[in-house]
Amino acid sequence: MQKVNRKSEIWIPPALAARHADHRLRTLRTQRNTCGRYEEDGQTWLNFASNDYLDLAHDPRLLQAAHTATQAHGTGATASRLVTGNLPLHEQLETQLAAHRGYPAALLFGSGYLTNAGVIPAIVGRADHIFIDRLAHASMIDAAQLSGARLHRFAHNDPQALSVLLQKHTSGRRLVLTESVFSMDGDVAPLTALVNMAAEHEAMVLIDEAHAGGVFGPGGSGLVRALGLTDRVNCAMGTCSKALGSYGGYVACSTAMRDWLINHARSLIYTTALPPAVVAASLAALQILETEPDRGAAVLARAKYFRERLRAVGADTLQSASQIVPVLTGDNARTLRVAERLRADGIIVGAMRPPTVPPGKARLRFSLTYAHGEADLDHTVDRLAQALTAEGLS
Ligand SMILES: Cc1ncc(COP(=O)(O)O)c(C=O)c1O
Repeated sequence: MQKVNRKSEIWIPPALAARHADHRLRTLRTQRNTCGRYEEDGQTWLNFASNDYLDLAHDPRLLQAAHTATQAHGTGATASRLVTGNLPLHEQLETQLAAHRGYPAALLFGSGYLTNAGVIPAIVGRADHIFIDRLAHASMIDAAQLSGARLHRFAHNDPQALSVLLQKHTSGRRLVLTESVFSMDGDVAPLTALVNMAAEHEAMVLIDEAHAGGVFGPGGSGLVRALGLTDRVNCAMGTCSKALGSYGGYVACSTAMRDWLINHARSLIYTTALPPAVVAASLAALQILETEPDRGAAVLARAKYFRERLRAVGADTLQSASQIVPVLTGDNARTLRVAERLRADGIIVGAMRPPTVPPGKARLRFSLTYAHGEADLDHTVDRLAQALTAEGLS
């Protein structure tokens, strides 16, 4: 057990030891390269733990845009958007994100997490109700708790369960929260049914498109737009940190909602604006989506191929229908061991354990990117099948 010098911290070592015993201890590990596929020390590495779905984080066009913006505007925005940190670049990116997502307006935040943390408490409070999918991302749960609204969880992807709750809790403002592509299961929400249900009950809707953006819909414009739901989804949330290979979060919305958020979203008001380099990199990524609109579809086709091959070797990929492909392993210790076996073969994959996923549902989470070719996927399936057999999981 770790030693502590400060008496006030004696509670930490036993708590961490308990986590360690349960194979849930989180530690930081350095990663020398963040590409989906790269050579290092004479070995090819396949990184399935990055969310750089379109393989843009190292694209020379993004690097150049970041460099040029830094030369022109400096390394930091140096103040909040509401003081002197609001550069033309920020507004240009918002205009382009709004057009990309099919909304009249958009508003940038420091990250996707900060977007949810700012937007949700700005539009509902103590007298209100939030209805949230049971598997929704931690950023929405934290934001919902921060808002002080009463929180009601509905069964995963179940519009009927949402309907029952909406009928029961009718007072105040009401807000429905879900993801369009779920980050840990890789499944897709029945968005049209959920959104119509909310519209019937005159509830507001925020859809987190962190993982759909850039990948789903024409030119990667997301599922809300592809399904024709922009008029019923008040806030289509997205992030520049995944498919766009950059950083920062945003919400696409009406101009009235944008004005409201500028006045009430605390994670926008009380923090420094995004640095010029990342804003310029996001703009360059959006430009690439326009000239190469099929990157997302190519990733989805590879994911389908990967799932089919995995299922053929007996792996349980849950309800995945996206570029996120989980392989259910159940037990925490075994999940870690399979991930380590793969790492020894040059394959990096996330070992997801509780509380990130429900107890007993530990899994490997493969994030497929544009950098992964068919041969890479064949190789990975072969190695994974061996590792699962070695751990008695198939
Ligand atoms: C569903 C979902 N929403 C929001 C976020 C937060 O986005 P960001 O990494 O930009 O803070 C993530 C990513 O971690 C996510 O998976």
